[in-house]
Amino acid sequence: MVKKYPVVSEEYQAAVEKCKRKLRGFIAEKQCAPIVLRLAWHSAGTYDWKTKTGGPFGTIRHPAELSHEANNGLDIAVRLLEPIKQQFPILSYADFYQLAGVVAVEVTGGPEIPFHAGRQDKTDPPPEGRLPDAKKGSEHLREVFGHMGLSDKDIVALSGGHTLGRCHKERSGFEGPWTRNPLIFDNSYFKELLSGEKEGLIQLPTDKALLEDRSFRPLVEKYAADEDAFFHDYAEAHLKLSELGFAEEE
Ligand code: HEM
Repeated sequence: MVKKYPVVSEEYQAAVEKCKRKLRGFIAEKQCAPIVLRLAWHSAGTYDWKTKTGGPFGTIRHPAELSHEANNGLDIAVRLLEPIKQQFPILSYADFYQLAGVVAVEVTGGPEIPFHAGRQDKTDPPPEGRLPDAKKGSEHLREVFGHMGLSDKDIVALSGGHTLGRCHKERSGFEGPWTRNPLIFDNSYFKELLSGEKEGLIQLPTDKALLEDRSFRPLVEKYAADEDAFFHDYAEAHLKLSELGFAEEE
């Protein structure tokens, strides 16, 4: 897909840079990188390439979308980020949430992900049911990410986002972190996945599906063995995710 990014004003670009710095400090201080990354991903992951609906266009802050079952708990992230957003009224929520997602990965030690500004806020929330169901398997993952236009490699690399954070029983019904260092972005998600289930750590059915699938498993092995390869593919996949439906040439 060839991208044609909109040109934003100098004032807008300066606000992006300043907001990025504010977000670095804020996310580090509040240790909220995991839920901020989840917010950015759930905001973007509703995109459907066929109908060109959903996607990272700021709609997730509205109650109609926050109340989708998959978004349980994300009202916390919206509320937490709001004081920073208020300092940058010129920015769209669409850009702001994706910028926050990029910063969340960066400040926890992950790869730098390019950020292009210019997403405009939309009003209509996507229909419920476009995000993955953690109780399902690899065919479900292919179907859901296929609607976004993302590949097997993107699925495995992006699943590495679970190197951050944890499940909360009251939000998803699951409980516990995937790794022993849930505030550090590294390749430990893949190492833990390969080395089997352990007391105190979670593996969702969709995580385990990556081990059983003939196309997914070699990527899990590669990322567990080679963090640079993971960071490279993660950055590429995250960039795609953050720009679904944005700046795409007709
Ligand atoms: C592959 C399909 C996926 C499924 C089924 C899935 C499912 C889940 C579930 C059930 C939780 C627990 C929510 C809670 O109880 O608080 C969670 C958390 C999380 N997910 Fe995913 N997820 C998927 C993909 C992704 C992707 C692509 C990313 C980012 C690139 C991501 C990032 C996160 C993060 C950072 C958290 C932790 C949030 C926190 O600590 O508050 N997930 N996910």
